[in-house]
Amino acid sequence: MDLFEYRDGDLCCEDVRLSDLADETGTPAYVYSAGTLLRHYRAIADAFAPLDPTICFSVKSLANVHVLKLLASAGSGFDVVSGGEIARVLAAGGEMSRVVFAGVGKNDSEIEFAIASGVGMFNVESAAEFENLSRLASLGGKKVHAALRINPDVYDPATHRYTTTGKKETKFGVDIDRAGRFFETYGRDPHVELDGIHLHIGSPIYSPQPYVQAVTKAMDLAETLCEKGFQVRSLNLGGGYAADYDQGASPRAETYAEALVPLLKDKNLRVLLEPGRQISCNAGVLLTRVLYVKQGGGKKFLIVDAAMTDLLRPALYEAEHFVYPARLPDGASPPERRIAFASEGGEKVDIVGGVCETSDFLATDRVLPPMRRGDLLAVFSAGAYGFVMSSHYNSRPNAAEVLVQGDSWRVIRRRENYDDLFAAELDV
Ligand SMILES: Cc1ncc(COP(=O)(O)O)c(C=O)c1O
Repeated sequence: MDLFEYRDGDLCCEDVRLSDLADETGTPAYVYSAGTLLRHYRAIADAFAPLDPTICFSVKSLANVHVLKLLASAGSGFDVVSGGEIARVLAAGGEMSRVVFAGVGKNDSEIEFAIASGVGMFNVESAAEFENLSRLASLGGKKVHAALRINPDVYDPATHRYTTTGKKETKFGVDIDRAGRFFETYGRDPHVELDGIHLHIGSPIYSPQPYVQAVTKAMDLAETLCEKGFQVRSLNLGGGYAADYDQGASPRAETYAEALVPLLKDKNLRVLLEPGRQISCNAGVLLTRVLYVKQGGGKKFLIVDAAMTDLLRPALYEAEHFVYPARLPDGASPPERRIAFASEGGEKVDIVGGVCETSDFLATDRVLPPMRRGDLLAVFSAGAYGFVMSSHYNSRPNAAEVLVQGDSWRVIRRRENYDDLFAAELDV
């Protein structure tokens, strides 16, 4: 459940009317609800409480330092995938021992930075990476902890081919069949204590079943490893818990927990989770205004001031977001927030940006109330993998980000200006 709702025909985030906010901040603007972020974090923490898990919010889904600060204050750890994300967690005052560092391509300076920052766990994805980590830990005179990311060869057929990662044929992690040999080779390293197993089978995963299969395989592996004298102290279940792109479509945290807690309870393992979108997705909307309405062949286009440079997901992996006006027509009821929802008396439109690419669309074939230049639209479920994937393509400055808390709001990232676009280009 999130805290975006229509009140008297106006879309509100908590107690703030979004049309008023947009008048002040301009558009495009990402708006996040602090109450929703915290509510979603707590729902996962409560559901998995019998396992006393370490919840590591996946920074890649929503990386604004103010959001990380908010979640750190609620007790969250963090899943990071780059030196830049480590720097963000440090800036947010995150507890570094509760940070896990994943990624197939960690470079030397990122690894050195992670070691110096006291990152709690390296999720190692290959033998070559392990050897490099051991070398750098030895040079730094520190012992670090690592978990082996395994591919359990499990996947959810509903997951888009670009976001499934648990199959054998993936660049991520190590085949589960090779994991035993990996521990034989590296399980007694003097600089890296290899004492955990990490999984991330893809995202979003709309059912607990793929996790159950993956955890069952991981537990069998852990048992075999323990029989051979290796220590497996932690199991990291990764992320991928689904979010409501369609209202009510995603299982709640309790549904995943009901299936997984019995498999892991009293197993003497530290359990880690890396949820991203289940916390951040429905906690954010992207506000955009209609610039032009245009007929093209049999299609009607709403050309808006946000584009693929602000929200890449539809162009990148055909993701669908519910889009609707922030102000309802007089007397209209609030919509069901479903992709297929058709407004009564509405017209079918494609909602597109101004970038010079045919793939630059936010949504296609949506039935919306008639729209005019200047009308404000909300792209829902945009908190995860939204702003973080922004680019400057076509030299478009990035949108503002705003955090709402109750009846107040503040800009947590100012809208970029033209100078920002070439600030890093030397001697201009
Ligand atoms: C290793 C790892 N953990 C966690 C996540 C977070 O996934 P989600 O935001 O779907 O929960 C990802 C996403 O790509 C990931 O690669």
